[in-house]
Amino acid sequence: MKKTSKKLFLLNKSALEVFKLKGDQNAVKVRRVLQIAEDLSGGNMAGKKVLDLGCAEGAYSIELALRGAKVLGIDAREERMKFGRKIAQEKKIANLEFVQKDVREISKKTGSFDLVLFLGLLYHLDAKDIFDLLPKIFQICRHFLIIDTHISLVAKEFVSNKGKKYAGIRLREHGDNESQDKILSRLGASVGNLYSFRFTKNSLVKLLNDQGFTTVFECHSPLEPTKEKMLGDRITLVAIKGDKTKLSTYPWLNDISEKEIERKMGKIGQWQPYWESGAGKKEKFKLRAISYRLKNALNGLLSKFGYELRRK
Ligand SMILES: C[S@@+](CC[C@H](N)C(=O)[O-])C[C@H]1O[C@@H](n2cnc3c(N)ncnc32)[C@H](O)[C@@H]1O
Repeated sequence: MKKTSKKLFLLNKSALEVFKLKGDQNAVKVRRVLQIAEDLSGGNMAGKKVLDLGCAEGAYSIELALRGAKVLGIDAREERMKFGRKIAQEKKIANLEFVQKDVREISKKTGSFDLVLFLGLLYHLDAKDIFDLLPKIFQICRHFLIIDTHISLVAKEFVSNKGKKYAGIRLREHGDNESQDKILSRLGASVGNLYSFRFTKNSLVKLLNDQGFTTVFECHSPLEPTKEKMLGDRITLVAIKGDKTKLSTYPWLNDISEKEIERKMGKIGQWQPYWESGAGKKEKFKLRAISYRLKNALNGLLSKFGYELRRK
């Protein structure tokens, strides 16, 4: 992989003050996201097209534009974006545009992007909006999507989309009769929805898989010490849009649905590998298969309450 030499672009004092106000917790999040972006882009952001959804003051947008990416930052609140806009003007960053817009209004016309950032916003939206928005993100994303979000640690409520069920918890975002001014004054919150839905990690991963992203993984490093100290309800996920892989060793897996794979996997405890077939091993294997199936059934029940038995 060809690496470009790392150049540090200096910002002036007033720009640094803007980002300092967001705190050091934000600093480590910015470092993580930038590291993922560079690592998955061959160490070079020059010429990459980036969409930053809910960009706020534009820390990520500015960092990426300074590295030569062509960035579009979208946020519903001009009050937050104005800081980024000013910094971009002062620093004469021409390859960065800030547009005031509701992210739910993005479409094919917004463009197509190598990287889409969806940071600190998904958990502010309601399930229906997320179900509408994710296919649009998938459509306009060429390479990968980075999500940083709160998740629900309990599977309290269930929501359905296209015949599939997802778990999480529904939370209040704004009061029923609150004015638009009041809603806009909550600078970190959503606009246009009174409730939000936090998916469980499993459901969010499933939802991304259901969109067509071929790899979804959770990022743990670079470290974010504050995140590690939280309850584990804040995560960074990366979803890659690739071509589905085909296996030569297990061709049965190539052309069947996820549901069918899951059904087959339910029988896994009944499958006996060849090294378990010798004399005396058969009974031992049967007992293990029964305990495996019991554990699985129990986990199925417990998962509804957000718990699971630990597997060895
Ligand atoms: C918690 S902040 C996260 C900001 C930034 N992405 C980060 O991770 O630091 C959420 C941002 O999303 C914006 N936002 C909320 N609902 C939005 C919507 N429907 N469309 C566009 N922006 C929205 C807010 O104005 C706010 O700037």
